[in-house]
Amino acid sequence: MIAVMKSLKTIAAARRWRKGLEKKVVLVPTMGALHHGHEALIRHARKLAGTDGEVVVSIFVNPTQFGPKEDFNAYPRPLAKDLAVCKRAGADAVFLPRVDEMYASDASVTVAESNLSETLCGRSRPGHFGGVCTVVAKLFLATQPTHAVFGEKDWQQLATLRRMVRDLNFPIAIEPFPTVREPDGLAASSRNAYLTPAERTLAPRIHAAMAEASKLKSPRAIMKSCTAAIGKIPGARIDYIEAVDASTLRSLSNRKTAGRLAVAVFLGKARLIDNIPLPSIP
Ligand code: PAF
Repeated sequence: MIAVMKSLKTIAAARRWRKGLEKKVVLVPTMGALHHGHEALIRHARKLAGTDGEVVVSIFVNPTQFGPKEDFNAYPRPLAKDLAVCKRAGADAVFLPRVDEMYASDASVTVAESNLSETLCGRSRPGHFGGVCTVVAKLFLATQPTHAVFGEKDWQQLATLRRMVRDLNFPIAIEPFPTVREPDGLAASSRNAYLTPAERTLAPRIHAAMAEASKLKSPRAIMKSCTAAIGKIPGARIDYIEAVDASTLRSLSNRKTAGRLAVAVFLGKARLIDNIPLPSIP
């Protein structure tokens, strides 16, 4: 028998679906425009849920995490293709709320994180992580998962959401999933679609620069090498290149604790982010 993937359009429908499910319920929150990186997250969720658990994918382009000059209206919304990806990867249900279902026009309560979200992307995208925390809290309350899967590509998002779950006592296990890369090393991202063919050939040099720099020992040398190599990519504009502590996201001064090398680089219209581990050196 071929199982039918449920389409849940309202919070009430999501709660009705959730009621009575006693095994694992694994949520994969997305903004749609699903690529093979998302597909890997959904397949991972399927494995976590097992044969008797449930996988729900949310597809919601969240207006509150876009800045006034960002691409909310232009953000791609290829729904039919997205539903095919969810089905192929083994989702049992998709949650597809409209903006007015998620946000009252006079909504005035939000979730704010005031430490981890202030650095890295938080500096150039004020309000972004508040929007992410608020919508993810709402997605959690609508679908009530036991587990939620997030990609490591958005390391700061992952760290911030872990903190939210800890500090607000959500009874939900956060499951990280390693960054999915194209064969040439570029991190899979919906924003790669904004690259011109010429920019697309240059973009893998970002990860190559990071990988090469990460072979060095001191965080300062790593940042210097990475900045020099990325600075040579024609048309690249560096937003930040930082070696940070993997948990606190503060600047890494030595290699005694686990770190991440995190970058954000504009290439044409695309703002590309990436990060790789800087394992601690005993
Ligand atoms: O990573 C994303 O796609 C979004 O930030 C998320 C977690 C779905 C919240 O809108």
